[in-house]
Amino acid sequence: MKALNDLHLVLIAALIQILKSIIHDSNATWLLLNGHYYQSYKYFHEFRNEIRAIFEFGPKVMTAINKYASDIFGNDKSHKFCVHIRRDDFLQHRNLESRTYFVVPAVLRVFKFLQRESGVHNVSAVFIGAKPDFWDALNVTQNFSPHFDTVYNARLSSRGEDMAFGATYCDSFLISASGSTFGWWMAYLGNTAMPVFYNGQAFPNGSRTWHCLTYRA
Ligand SMILES: *[C@@H]1O[C@H](CO)[C@@H](O)[C@H](O)[C@H]1NC(C)=O
Ligand SMILES: *[C@@H]1O[C@H](CO)[C@@H](O)[C@H](O)[C@H]1NC(C)=O
Ligand SMILES: *[C@@H]1O[C@H](CO)[C@@H](O)[C@H](O)[C@H]1NC(C)=O
Repeated sequence: MKALNDLHLVLIAALIQILKSIIHDSNATWLLLNGHYYQSYKYFHEFRNEIRAIFEFGPKVMTAINKYASDIFGNDKSHKFCVHIRRDDFLQHRNLESRTYFVVPAVLRVFKFLQRESGVHNVSAVFIGAKPDFWDALNVTQNFSPHFDTVYNARLSSRGEDMAFGATYCDSFLISASGSTFGWWMAYLGNTAMPVFYNGQAFPNGSRTWHCLTYRA
């Protein structure tokens, strides 16, 4: 079994609070959950607002990301379309990592969607989590610069800052590696009205079995 990371522990603490608020007047000592896979937002979506309040980012991380955002964005008021990239450990993992053949056409498709369906015209793309080798492989100048006001490669100094930045500064969001819990949480904690797009393929073999990721705002 995969080790629980901090995020899972925070989530478990949140779920316990919620269960306490649902199960009134019980003097039971134990609560036995007899399922085997609880990693789905469907178990807590009803409490989305409470979850968002529990996950509110602290002042230290907010100060750091606000400064970073004002440094990179300056006066750029365009719509910020964020593209979450996750590779690293996914290259050895059963989850499918972000790949150029998905990211390039998906970014252009979302750009067209935003223009046509949402009437957004001045759009900047903001990549989050793209390391230098992947950034180079994307051929940004050739593939994206003609379409977007500006293309940013956001490089924050920790995963916590990455998450706070993604949840705070994006107007639309693409999860390009659907097995990434960080990408998913950025979108879930972000603006509740923002459109979220994701890769329907979650595994290298083409299986779409991550039903828990079929999240729509
Ligand atoms: C918005 O986009 C148009 C067309 O791409 C461009 O001419 C204009 O300068 C942009 N406006 C801003 C405020 O960036
Ligand atoms: C980037 O450019 C190189 C050289 O033209 C090309 O071989 C490669 O397929 C391009 N990659 C993408 C993702 O556009
Ligand atoms: C695809 O990979 C996933 C994860 O390793 C596995 O659960 C699933 O059974 C595989 N599907 C097929 C059709 O091989």
